[in-house]
Amino acid sequence: MIDVCDILDALRWHADVGCDEAIGDEPTDWAALTARPVGRAPSSGAPAAGAAPGTGMARGPSPTRAPAPAAPASARPAALFASPDQPLGASEAGIQARARAGEAQTLEALEAALRSFDGCPLKATAMNTVFADGNPQAPVMLIGEAPGEDEDRQGKPFVGVSGKLLDRMLAQIGLDRGKVYISNILPWRPPGNRSPTQAEIAACLPFLERHVELVRPKLLVALGGVSAKTLLNRAEGITRLRGQWKTYEVAGTAVPLMPMLHPAYLLRNPIAKREAWRDMLALQQRIGEEGIKYSED
Ligand code: URA
Repeated sequence: MIDVCDILDALRWHADVGCDEAIGDEPTDWAALTARPVGRAPSSGAPAAGAAPGTGMARGPSPTRAPAPAAPASARPAALFASPDQPLGASEAGIQARARAGEAQTLEALEAALRSFDGCPLKATAMNTVFADGNPQAPVMLIGEAPGEDEDRQGKPFVGVSGKLLDRMLAQIGLDRGKVYISNILPWRPPGNRSPTQAEIAACLPFLERHVELVRPKLLVALGGVSAKTLLNRAEGITRLRGQWKTYEVAGTAVPLMPMLHPAYLLRNPIAKREAWRDMLALQQRIGEEGIKYSED
């Protein structure tokens, strides 16, 4: 007889290793699939990122997700997905993304282009494409890492516990979602909230870059290490980068960018809220220095 405790232990183990979503009715042996040649082998000799478990994690389409991908990732051309060690922008997915994003002249067109883009395997496991929240006319744009579970379910960035903390931090300096605009480096949730791979970032970054270009914010805030390192093309961690104004080039214009600690990090390390508070004050001061006025000011 099956012991219910064993089942619970197995469930817990799966959740701990990041398997927290059921994405198909039938189990798939991904190790067997990756052993099969599925297209051009990446030059590094690493398995194709579109098929390798633990890298791009491309999986079969979920019957519960809409819109369902046309075919399981293993049946897609493997070369579309970047290999994990390719430089950002060098993958075929990145090139396709840049072309599609570049065609978009409005945020609505960009969102539609992103929703129809199949170059990032995360889309197959995500419930929703998380594009943005807040006011696209706002002078301050915040960029996080990637949707978590709540964001994936609701289709909006920063609506879970770290989002609640972010809202409280913004409120401390008189801001709210009507006064800022929020997006993420990745529009799709990495399964189990694992860190995104370079290949996933490379495939999606052109959309975010175009997003910033269309919004033309006066100030940018990078929330967390993935966002700061990606936007600034730097290797240092967020604890080194945070707290100093940097610049991000948008269509020939240098936009001031403040790297800050991610609210999820602050929830795990409340002592670091001191630094976060300093960074929020630096943001408030810069808003004043830039002559940014909100209507009720
Ligand atoms: N963390 C992020 O970086 N972005 C979100 O949208 C939610 C949590």
